[in-house]
Amino acid sequence: MRRVFLILLWTMSLVRPNVPQAAGVQVFPPVNFTLTVSALAQVLLHWKPNPNQEQKNYPISYDVKILSPVPEEYDTKKTHSIRTVALHNGFSAHLRTLLLHNDLEMRSEWVKQKLPPLPGAPETSVTNLSCVTRITISSTVSLHCTWLPGQGAPPDTEYFLFYRYEMYTEECQDYIKDKWNRNTECRFSVTRIDPEEFDKLIVIHINGSSKYAAIKPLQQLFNQNAIEKVNVPRNVTVFLDQNDLLATWEKPVSPLPKECFEYEFYLFNLKSGNKQTLKISSNDFRLRIDVTSRYSIQVRANYHVCSTRGLWSDWSEIIYVGPSKMENRVAWILAVLCVSTCFTFLLVAIICKINHVWSKLFPRIPTPSNKFRDPFPNDYERARTCASETETELGSFAEDLYGSALDGSVF
Ligand SMILES: *[C@@H]1O[C@H](CO)[C@@H](O)[C@H](O)[C@H]1NC(C)=O
Ligand SMILES: *[C@@H]1O[C@H](CO)[C@@H](O)[C@H](O)[C@H]1NC(C)=O
Ligand SMILES: *[C@@H]1O[C@H](CO)[C@@H](O)[C@H](O)[C@H]1NC(C)=O
Ligand SMILES: *[C@@H]1O[C@H](CO)[C@@H](O)[C@H](O)[C@H]1NC(C)=O
Repeated sequence: MRRVFLILLWTMSLVRPNVPQAAGVQVFPPVNFTLTVSALAQVLLHWKPNPNQEQKNYPISYDVKILSPVPEEYDTKKTHSIRTVALHNGFSAHLRTLLLHNDLEMRSEWVKQKLPPLPGAPETSVTNLSCVTRITISSTVSLHCTWLPGQGAPPDTEYFLFYRYEMYTEECQDYIKDKWNRNTECRFSVTRIDPEEFDKLIVIHINGSSKYAAIKPLQQLFNQNAIEKVNVPRNVTVFLDQNDLLATWEKPVSPLPKECFEYEFYLFNLKSGNKQTLKISSNDFRLRIDVTSRYSIQVRANYHVCSTRGLWSDWSEIIYVGPSKMENRVAWILAVLCVSTCFTFLLVAIICKINHVWSKLFPRIPTPSNKFRDPFPNDYERARTCASETETELGSFAEDLYGSALDGSVF
């Protein structure tokens, strides 16, 4: 019990005394506290010192406490403050005067202000908004956003997208529509986003109109760096050097120097099905591979140093290296052709040789003359001679074949 009491005492002593009046000094709350929307997703908090406050003798500051949408509390000596926050669900802030008197901080009562939510029927706002930026070849930044229509949005809803960067605001001119003719995508091929800045905010505001319902706007803030889609590495080349694979590439299109990037190198062995992803921080590398396998290769890039990580680039185009199936097939066909041609030549050579030997061993016997008298001497005789000549030749070829077959079986 005693312990609890002590803790209570100790806790109370930690709390700053909330006494507007001490030693005859009074602290008055600020006056004319106003909230003004000064740009898309930007609110200006503005107030005046209380005219009753004797400012000269004591240092005065203000305690700003933002309750929504994002709780935040800070002190300032100024009489205004600017916040960049999504305002579609409203904004609420409290403010009080702080006065330092003999090392004692004295605080006034709070004054409160709020902005109402932006009007519109529930569930009519877009959902699943996502945006990416890219650095273009001409060193500008392009922006691409996609979203889904709200569940409660009537079919005739038309959405409009605006982006704000610093004090510049622009409406999208290049929408892509879904099958119900509703805008669900927007492209800015050129924006005012500074490619050399990384920590700035990009404000997206999407409102809409419909005949049947008020469409509630949506605002979302994106950190410039976090949505940057890094460009693809350029001029990827791969070649074989004996048993090594050598790969080189150029850094992606970017204002940053090449030291800022790292890469992922994807290697797929088409023969074995093995996959490998290597992290590389230079623009080239060498790797021992199986030269009998064919590989497919891709590279992608991201920031490594210099800037917070962006979104990994897309993979580069697939490059193949190593013997292809087609090459293999062609080589195989060539080999078969070569072997069969050689074999045929050999066979022919052997036949010729045997034919030669055979004809030496058994010289051709002359055909015996016809002793019988021919009843049809002229034409028939001629035809007969022709036929017999053909017969003799065929016979000799058959003998040759027989001989060579015999030859083969003997030797
Ligand atoms: C506060 O606002 C009121 C009315 O707008 C104005 O009359 C008054 O002068 C303002 N007070 C100060 C301290 O500016
Ligand atoms: C939209 O976002 C919700 C919540 O983040 C998620 O559950 C849903 O899958 C998303 N829808 C699509 C189509 O991406
Ligand atoms: C959408 O917002 C823009 C920028 O605030 C505004 O100019 C425009 O009138 C709004 N359109 C609708 C239909 O609310
Ligand atoms: C890529 O290769 C082409 C042709 O070889 C060359 O003109 C170009 O400058 C190279 N790009 C880079 C970034 O080195």
